[in-house]
Amino acid sequence: MRRLLIAGNWKMNMNHKTAVVLAEELKKAAENAAHLDVAACPPLVYLQAVANVFQGTKVGVGAQNGYFEEEGAFTGEISMGMIKDVGCKYVILGHSERRHILHETSDDVCLKTHAALKAGLTPIVCLGELLSEREAGTTDFVIRRQFDGSFSGLTSEQMKQVVIAYEPVWAIGTGKVATPDQAEEVHLGIRALLTERYGKDVAETVIIQYGGSVKADNAREILGKPNVDGALVGGASLKIDSFMGIINAAM
Ligand code: PGA
Repeated sequence: MRRLLIAGNWKMNMNHKTAVVLAEELKKAAENAAHLDVAACPPLVYLQAVANVFQGTKVGVGAQNGYFEEEGAFTGEISMGMIKDVGCKYVILGHSERRHILHETSDDVCLKTHAALKAGLTPIVCLGELLSEREAGTTDFVIRRQFDGSFSGLTSEQMKQVVIAYEPVWAIGTGKVATPDQAEEVHLGIRALLTERYGKDVAETVIIQYGGSVKADNAREILGKPNVDGALVGGASLKIDSFMGIINAAM
């Protein structure tokens, strides 16, 4: 049985004070969240502060990015080992904002995925098509290309440690959520790809989250789909009530 993973992606929001307050609220509210995993991914500079709040609780902390080299002259970058060192369990990789605004390629994501696994982190690797790609009927092709590029060279055992987040780019921060059927269709396709490349055992193990305008009032229906194993939540993770609404729907 796959456990649902509800992760909040705070993006470039919050300050030290509001991050700690939200973390404290989440720690308290998520105390009784049974049969699912909860995580928050604050901006890098607040990772340590948030990790301190969650220490000894069930809530995991994740970074929103990391670099693939282990150490050295890479000004401004942070290694996966450093992320692990401050108490993180997860790292989001290949988010569409990084792919499209910061021009990260699947090759970059692949290097980072390998580095994250080596450091003992769980990478949450995002895949998703643009609106134009969906309208052109190329969603399957785009997902397959991102999948093969981002996971190249992973063994089956490594692939089992990866969390995939399907995030249609047209649904992120737009309020335009994919219908539960649209999400399930792509999730099923990703599951089939996993079977094709790594076998049934891996395919049945890997958690595939949905992300893109998930809110308390649509979460239940989306999470009810058999191949949707959780949510990567942006906007609605910034307030405790809306995030808890999603966690409660998941429960
Ligand atoms: P959203 O963002 O929930 O605000 O659409 C999701 C994401 O980008 O991970």
